[in-house]
Amino acid sequence: MDIATNPSNPAGNPEMADAAVEPHDPATIFRNNYTPPSWLVPEISLDFDLGTELTKCVATLKVERNPDGDGDQTLHLCGDNIAVMTLKVDGNDAEGWSMSGSNLLLPLPGSAHEVTIETHLHPATNSQLMGLYASGGMLCTQCEAEGFRRITFFPDRPDVLSRYTVRMEGPKDQFPVLLSNGNLADSGDGADGRHWAVWDDPWPKPSYLFALVAGQLVANRDTFTTCGGRKVDLAVWVREGDLERTDHAMRSLIASMKWDEETFGREYDLDQFNIVAVSDFNMGAMENKGLNIFNTRYVLADPETATDGDYDGVEGVVGHEYFHNWSGNRITCRDWFQLSLKEGFTVLRDQLFSADMGSEPVKRIEDVRILRAAQFPEDSGPLAHPIRPDSYQEISNFYTATVYNKGAEVIRMMKTLAGDDAFRKGTDLYFDRHDGEAATCEDFIKSMEDGAGLDLTQFRRWYEQAGTPRVTMQSEFDQSTGTVTLHFTQKVPATPGQPNKQPVPIPLKVALFDRDSGTHTGEKLLVLDKARQDFTFDGFAKPPVVSVNRAFTAPIQLDAEAHDDDLVFLAANDDDAFARYEALQQLVTRELLGTIEHGPDEKRRGAIAEAMGKVLDDDQIDDLMRGELMMLPSIAFLLELAAPANPVALHEARERLKGHIGTRLRDKLIALHERASAVPYGLDADARGARKVKTQALVMLAAADQKEAAARAAAQYRTATNMTDRQGAMMVLAGIDCPERSELVADFHKRFEGNALVIDKWFSLQANALDPKVLDTVEALAKHPDFTIKNPNRVRSLYMTMAGNAAAFHDESGRGYRMIADLVLALDPINAQTAARFIPALGRWRKIEPGRAALMRAELERIAAAPNLSKDTREQVSKSLD
Ligand code: PHE
Ligand code: ZN
Repeated sequence: MDIATNPSNPAGNPEMADAAVEPHDPATIFRNNYTPPSWLVPEISLDFDLGTELTKCVATLKVERNPDGDGDQTLHLCGDNIAVMTLKVDGNDAEGWSMSGSNLLLPLPGSAHEVTIETHLHPATNSQLMGLYASGGMLCTQCEAEGFRRITFFPDRPDVLSRYTVRMEGPKDQFPVLLSNGNLADSGDGADGRHWAVWDDPWPKPSYLFALVAGQLVANRDTFTTCGGRKVDLAVWVREGDLERTDHAMRSLIASMKWDEETFGREYDLDQFNIVAVSDFNMGAMENKGLNIFNTRYVLADPETATDGDYDGVEGVVGHEYFHNWSGNRITCRDWFQLSLKEGFTVLRDQLFSADMGSEPVKRIEDVRILRAAQFPEDSGPLAHPIRPDSYQEISNFYTATVYNKGAEVIRMMKTLAGDDAFRKGTDLYFDRHDGEAATCEDFIKSMEDGAGLDLTQFRRWYEQAGTPRVTMQSEFDQSTGTVTLHFTQKVPATPGQPNKQPVPIPLKVALFDRDSGTHTGEKLLVLDKARQDFTFDGFAKPPVVSVNRAFTAPIQLDAEAHDDDLVFLAANDDDAFARYEALQQLVTRELLGTIEHGPDEKRRGAIAEAMGKVLDDDQIDDLMRGELMMLPSIAFLLELAAPANPVALHEARERLKGHIGTRLRDKLIALHERASAVPYGLDADARGARKVKTQALVMLAAADQKEAAARAAAQYRTATNMTDRQGAMMVLAGIDCPERSELVADFHKRFEGNALVIDKWFSLQANALDPKVLDTVEALAKHPDFTIKNPNRVRSLYMTMAGNAAAFHDESGRGYRMIADLVLALDPINAQTAARFIPALGRWRKIEPGRAALMRAELERIAAAPNLSKDTREQVSKSLD
């Protein structure tokens, strides 16, 4: 878009335009081919002359031959969609350089040189949102994973660590705030209303952690004094009107800093910490050293516009990015195959943080729900990969639920195996041993072995093998000896490129309950490390009820042969909150899978309604937990177990079961809704819990008595003082054909016009509706003046939501599939990363009954046939068709 017409492109390379055609099959990169860099860049200074249309960048690199490199005399510098304007070596015009595709090759005579490169950037037309781009008039950067090469030519790989000095200059009225990594070293005013700033980052870092922000921003400021006495200036930067929505982000930042000192012994290491919110962002947020850049949705929150879930999202993501300062920045990744080294570990850290800030069992249930709905389908589909992948074509495609969430589960298992104190010894050793390095997953495992005293020889298979292990359990009771034997089997299923798997060590927390007293004699940790294995327990007069994988100690699919009555028992009696939730989920899952096979089981439905009734009545559980227990398993999770299946039939079975429960428990649900509605707004657990059950009660009621639910939802909407109640009410109303629906949908829009994050909700609520006409609505919304394909949040709010609405996406006509494919084709040239994220929904065709599967495949083929597909989308589509 900007370069093809640039006469100064020395290579005259027409394929350098944005979203350019890859003329050949994109090269596959293999983990085992890693070689150390030939040249290092101990220091870099960057000088930016800022402008929205044109920014000039002069980079000065101190380069040194790497003594551990291969001795190559040629410096290889990555570039992407940029051209060399000037190139000097030690102050003189460079000679003998050439372009290889979009990369720059510069032969150098000695072992240390200074290389100066000027590049010209065009932020306003950078729609990929990688490199330097403009968002709402401000300039910002995104460099992970390979965006720095869109700013200047550089060995853009995470094992090249440099000290950065950044100078930037621009018109003061347009860019009053100038930020980069590290500490502000100097600043001043220039001629003609211009000003400048110099930022200095003392910590060597890889290029993917570079960041720059320039714009009209205001700050919420605070300070934090570290355990070592360093006073840190904190700032959360947003656009003027958003300042009053930044308190929760600031609170979360301070809590994160304190928590990381207390829990992992990690202290912050700069005098400043800045967070900037931008509305155009491909992902959630980015951990650039000392200058985290966030999607606005993980910064801005106030009661009127953000739900309780949004508040949790802000806290979790602020924590996540802050925790990266140690797990990611001080210790970074040697290469991108090691991504889970920083992401899996940091997700675990943010999960533990959020658990400590709120309710541990509720957080665990939420995390498992995400794992099952997002990671399990990935792990059993065409895009399955180990948490440490062996190959990739486009690294952006590997920021996955597997690398992040399964990666966190794998480290959590180490914690379970070691115990909390030994685990901490392992992480201490890791931080100590590898500080300042670009490390590998193997380094982490080794530190854990040495520090925590674990033998992880076999455990390493969790890093090597893809696929969710399937575990079966049968229990056998011997009356004569009073012995119970638990018979286990495990099997890791075949995944693409990995036909044969080895058993992995699976830590399972187990408890055996006495049926009469409802108690057990203590929880045990079993480690299942063979394909078949038995464990024996004695001292039982009667067969006990077995509770397995309590707290979800292992990320597996468990098929435990348990009688319905035992599940009912555990749902009522288990003292492990997760296990209690799980028993009810299993009972419901069994019923739903049975329903699509041979119709509902009246006895089981009765048992479910009764168990749910106990959940509603039990004053031993708090409302936050009650709300979790009231949610039925997701269609995505059910499809894993039923595949290949008709998702619409599953969806209908689920709705009918909800209706059955809702009818049976009508009075209780109404009473719950009344009780919860009387609780005043607050951010404490009780008030949040009340809001959660309030909406869950409506959801269940809506499947049983639409009129009653509609009236209550409309009233809840009209009297709402906060977004949680308003969105909950609207969610229920959107699925009921009633006069209030269109009136309140219009009211919602009018009320929040101009607030992008809430308008995103307005799109989502409609795309998520349980409404037979939802695809017409989505089609109409795509033409709404507020819709824009250029903003990733907006695109996701409409289309990702629709793709997750089983009844809509899997509409028998194939229209849902076609709409997603049309979107991918339109979006791919604009924002390839975001476009590629829609492919997995279609790629799940093997889980779907043959008629729909053929329609899904046909859409993938239509995408594959399009010319000029990005590397991102090409990789995902071709793997999905294989
Ligand atoms: N590293 C970021 C995180 O997990 C995610 C990210 C990846 C953001 C790539 C932008 C681009 O915190
Ligand atoms: Zn991360």
